[in-house]
Amino acid sequence: MKYLVTGGAGFIGSHVCDSLVARGDSVVVLDNLSTGLSHNLDHMVGNPAFDFISGSILDTGLVNRVVESVDHVLHFAAAVGVFTIVDKPLESLTTNLRGTENILEAASVHIKPVLIASSSEIYGTAGANGKPLNEESDRVVGSPLKSRWSYSEAKAIDESLAIFYHHEKGLPVRLVRFFNTVGPRQVGSYGMVVPRFVEAALSGAPLAVYGTGDQSRCFCHVADAVEAVLELIDSESAIGQVFHVGNDFDITIGDLAKKVVHALSSKSLIEMIPYEDAYGSGFEDMQRRVPDISKIKSVIGWAPSRNLDVIISDIAESLRHTH
Ligand SMILES: NC(=O)c1ccc[n+]([C@@H]2O[C@H](COP(=O)([O-])OP(=O)(O)OC[C@H]3O[C@@H](n4cnc5c(N)ncnc54)[C@H](O)[C@@H]3O)[C@@H](O)[C@H]2O)c1
Repeated sequence: MKYLVTGGAGFIGSHVCDSLVARGDSVVVLDNLSTGLSHNLDHMVGNPAFDFISGSILDTGLVNRVVESVDHVLHFAAAVGVFTIVDKPLESLTTNLRGTENILEAASVHIKPVLIASSSEIYGTAGANGKPLNEESDRVVGSPLKSRWSYSEAKAIDESLAIFYHHEKGLPVRLVRFFNTVGPRQVGSYGMVVPRFVEAALSGAPLAVYGTGDQSRCFCHVADAVEAVLELIDSESAIGQVFHVGNDFDITIGDLAKKVVHALSSKSLIEMIPYEDAYGSGFEDMQRRVPDISKIKSVIGWAPSRNLDVIISDIAESLRHTH
């Protein structure tokens, strides 16, 4: 099979490309390298099963041509990361709305199955009571005038668009709602907490914990997430469905900072930074968000198998190689 992987130079997309090529498929990456890095794919250059197209999902002519040339579309391209969304709200919203619509329209015209990467951010602050969120849980999202929520809004509309393309035009779509996914190649500068902590701990710099540190998160190793994606695209039962892909073990950000310092035997200090100083005034964050992953377990038998110790050591290992 020949797969188009949009955002294939990015963190999750590049790992998906590796796994597809490793199992004998070929990939075409479409990426504008806005947050993705060409060196994530350097090792594939020259491989006849790999092709890279530098361009944007906002270029409808290009999207149309590339989608027509492949068998299957995996759509990971997006404006990602809290800092990106808050710094460039209009550009981010356009990429996440119009870009996905372009992909769905082209996939529909050429009748190509498509997997759309959505996000647990669609839930907003829902799940703060610690009760795991299932795929049918309601969303609790703040004002549409706050840039912080525009990513959530866009991903939610992307899901609606995809599912209505499926219902009304028969497009085979699969939707993946990733919860925090972490691992090698993730960049800390866009606001991703685990690579930011590991980088700081390795260099001896302080680990900046935003807010009280009592907010908790769940972290899934990217290798687990990629296994889920590959099993979903091979599953007929996944068509027209949305699945949580995440780890249901949660940890407070304060404890995560301590764990990273301990695991890497670092001398770094842990600093508490008020939210306003990190993200500007009026920033709203969720206290807790735990995925219920029973649906994906029951449909394809997937569950994450790598814990936080593996995650921290794999990220540290890859950072040591790149510095
Ligand atoms: N990493 C996570 O924890 C997480 C959680 C939930 C959802 N997701 C979703 O998974 C997908 C991949 O995220 P990631 O963490 O790998 O982020 P990433 O930033 O590493 O990857 C996104 C890729 O999209 C590319 N891109 C952005 N705008 C583009 C455009 N207009 N045209 C072409 N390419 C463009 C970027 O250059 C980058 O390579 C995204 O859709 C994201 O919303 C990720």
